[in-house]
Amino acid sequence: MESSIKIENLSKSFTVASGIVPVLKNLNFEIKAGEFTIIYGPSGCGKSTLLHTILGLEEPTTGKVFVFGEDMYNQASEGEVARFRKKNIGMVYQQPNWVKALNVEENTALPLALMGQDLPTRLAKARTMLQSVHMLDWAKYHPSELSSGQQQKVSLSRAFITNPKIIIADEPTGNLDYESGEELIRMLDTFSKKDGKTILMVTHDLEYLKYADTCIRMLNGEIQKIFSPQIDKKELEEITKKRNIYEKIIGEK
Ligand SMILES: Nc1ncnc2c1ncn2[C@@H]1O[C@H](COP(=O)(O)OP(=O)(O)O)[C@@H](O)[C@H]1O
Ligand SMILES: [Mg+2]
Repeated sequence: MESSIKIENLSKSFTVASGIVPVLKNLNFEIKAGEFTIIYGPSGCGKSTLLHTILGLEEPTTGKVFVFGEDMYNQASEGEVARFRKKNIGMVYQQPNWVKALNVEENTALPLALMGQDLPTRLAKARTMLQSVHMLDWAKYHPSELSSGQQQKVSLSRAFITNPKIIIADEPTGNLDYESGEELIRMLDTFSKKDGKTILMVTHDLEYLKYADTCIRMLNGEIQKIFSPQIDKKELEEITKKRNIYEKIIGEK
């Protein structure tokens, strides 16, 4: 299968007042086209920083990022990097940003306006996308009138409207109850299985690992392990067991 995202000997350090902080330490992995990959690990271990390097937003200190074989940081200009990202990658964040003056379908269609498509075409595409995430009935509402779970479904439709081959989602279920979160993950899974999209999602919720083709465990800026929950069921069981014990200790989910 075609390589979608490839990370080679990637390290990233930040220079702060007190010195140099290494945040990502010599990471190596490859994601094939059409795979659903979940990166998980505790808060502060470097997950978002890693996503930013893949998005072309944060140049690695050393090492390389390849997206569809293209060296992300070896392009002619920053404008080229941005164009490459817009063409290939859709983003979903924990907290969606909406243009307040626009309703759901107009927000969904916005990336197409930036690409210069005419209004009837963009709205027709937006409505098709909204239908695919079961949100067409809400097209004329304002995003602020929707629940967090509904807003994230609209975020998905906006991320997919330019037909990118890759979706990167940073804690998309972070503000959702379990049921809405699971519904969103199932939709991501469907986009990967049915439409062959590459999905790279970050979460700290271990409950969702079972949906992924590949799980990457990060700790302190390093990759601790990479496994397939479909094949390595024991590994998944162990993780689930640990989570249940943890939940008993803290007394909540
Ligand atoms: N621009 C930056 N300058 C300095 N430190 C940063 C910067 N961005 C992230 N960090 C640090 O890198 C570490 C990892 O952050 P992050 O990637 O956001 O973790 P995660 O997403 O796993 O919670 C944190 O300790 C954070 O403070
Ligand atoms: Mg983060």
